[in-house]
Amino acid sequence: MSNPADELDHGTPRPDRTGQAEAFDAIGERYDEAFPHKEGQVAAAEWLVGSLPAGSRALDLGCGTGLPTAGQLAAAGVEVVGVDLSDGMVKLARAHVPGGVFHQADIADLRPGGPLDLGRFDAVTAFFSLLMLPRDEIPLALRTVRHLLVPQGLFALSMVEADVDDFEIPFLGNSIRVSGYLRDELREVVEAAGFEILEESSYSYAPAAADIQPEVQIFLRCRRHA
Ligand SMILES: C[S@@+](CC[C@H](N)C(=O)[O-])C[C@H]1O[C@@H](n2cnc3c(N)ncnc32)[C@H](O)[C@@H]1O
Repeated sequence: MSNPADELDHGTPRPDRTGQAEAFDAIGERYDEAFPHKEGQVAAAEWLVGSLPAGSRALDLGCGTGLPTAGQLAAAGVEVVGVDLSDGMVKLARAHVPGGVFHQADIADLRPGGPLDLGRFDAVTAFFSLLMLPRDEIPLALRTVRHLLVPQGLFALSMVEADVDDFEIPFLGNSIRVSGYLRDELREVVEAAGFEILEESSYSYAPAAADIQPEVQIFLRCRRHA
């Protein structure tokens, strides 16, 4: 019997994300200046580093500037591949993490049968990137992550706790669209995509930028079911 988490919708048309890409092209390094404290993210990547055998491959989905995560993984000897929608972010990631391989692509491009086939990974990180999708795409993106992982592969996810769908917000002088869930619903969506949640942690966070509201960040450490 097939696992529902294996069923991916190949027919969904490629979404137009021009606005999101242009916003992050314009934001560039200012993203890291606005979010200088990344303890939860660093701790989650540290968990991966401590759990992965030598020679492992990891994918950083929505890698942004490559810092801290892709850099942290590469410095620990993990073979890192990063993907980001924003060409400007990909250029920064290449400059910050010369040991990594970075692609300008949409998460949707990684669906099975999609234009970018990167093979399988021992671990995937998606820190504050799946929240850039409309809600109806997030379960599909999670099933794509599952597909990209080897059985028992590790997945570190962070989201902002918020009951919103494709909601436009001001962000560092630009407009972006974001989605989110309340904690219990987020857990349900992640588990339904074929993951076991090993650990959850959360942080109250006041970004160092006037136009971003304080937020609660949720970090989930997950393992792909076999
Ligand atoms: C909030 S930033 C987080 C960056 C990095 N993961 C971090 O936590 O430092 C979100 C990133 O996701 C990227 N992004 C947004 N939508 C995306 C999509 N559909 N596919 C790939 N990347 C996307 C943005 O360009 C941006 O670099």
